[in-house]
Amino acid sequence: MNKKQTIFSAIQPSGELHIGNYLGALKNFVELQDKYNCFFFIADYHSITGDYNPKEKSKQIFDLALDFLAAGLDPKKCTIAVQSQIPEHTELAWIFNTITPISELQRMTQFKDKSQNQDKNINMGLFDYPVLMAADILMYKTDAVPVGQDQFQHIELTRKIARFFNNKFGKTFPEPKDIITETPKIMSLIDPTKKMSKSHGVKSCIGINDEPEVIKKKIKKAVSTTEYNKDIYDFYATLLENFGSEKNKKYFDEQFKNKDIKFSELKDALAEDIANYFAPFREKRKELEKNPEEVKKILNEGAERARKIARETMKEVKEKVGLVL
Ligand code: AMP
Ligand code: TRP
Repeated sequence: MNKKQTIFSAIQPSGELHIGNYLGALKNFVELQDKYNCFFFIADYHSITGDYNPKEKSKQIFDLALDFLAAGLDPKKCTIAVQSQIPEHTELAWIFNTITPISELQRMTQFKDKSQNQDKNINMGLFDYPVLMAADILMYKTDAVPVGQDQFQHIELTRKIARFFNNKFGKTFPEPKDIITETPKIMSLIDPTKKMSKSHGVKSCIGINDEPEVIKKKIKKAVSTTEYNKDIYDFYATLLENFGSEKNKKYFDEQFKNKDIKFSELKDALAEDIANYFAPFREKRKELEKNPEEVKKILNEGAERARKIARETMKEVKEKVGLVL
């Protein structure tokens, strides 16, 4: 029998997850854990390259762990861990730094976008973040990485770094593929030309933990038009398709086809569908929140499991690089 393929992905703990993160990443994680050897990480070291409040960080890490578990990640099926608890990641990143040309990093569009959003804090970590991401992925000799479209360029760079390393020191790392979700890019509620993102403000996002009234309020204020506009309808249609009943989707498709679309009606139906879709998630999350020790135990066990492999990889890497006396 073939060995199970290894999957790695991570999300930054930098505030609430939105439905773009859910469709682009988390939903996929839950499906993959049944079939593959999976590692799902909380990328706390990545998240401190952005602007943040140190007093809030540990809560954000804990909240993301709650989101992972409430969405259905099962520590019996996959390894859930916090990146900074496995120091080998930063060690490997350093070694990768020494084989990655800066010209490769200068091409990263995420770096350019993020630099614009935090123009007073364009730090070295922000620039180097794709190298740490490559270390996360290659540490576990990962075969594939499920992410949204905004991360594809980083996975491409990860493959290059694997190649640079293998060429210089001998075959060590496989070149990981990306796994594309069916909905790799969910657009902002207030501007459907931009992706849904925390950096564009809470009004642009629906949080997966938002209460029904909040969802309703945000969708009410979301884009609409009195005209026949395919882009705007498509934006809602994607959400209806993922969170709505088939009946609703058909009903509004028909309205749209007949050029008789009523956005206010569509918005009410969609808000209700999204609130219902995440109702079991909200329940489970509230339960888990009452039990922080249990959540911390899951994270500690995950880190221990991951660290065993990370130590082995670093031993092999250090030998190949010539650092072992
Ligand atoms: P981040 O919040 O940037 O750490 O993103 C976590 C994951 O969600 C990554 O895999 C992203 O590719 C994915 N993601 C973020 N925003 C969106 C979006 N608007 N649509 C689809 N996927 C997204
Ligand atoms: N950089 C990713 C993001 O901003 C998070 C991340 C860190 C990641 N390490 C990773 C994603 C490894 C996939 C694989 O969303």
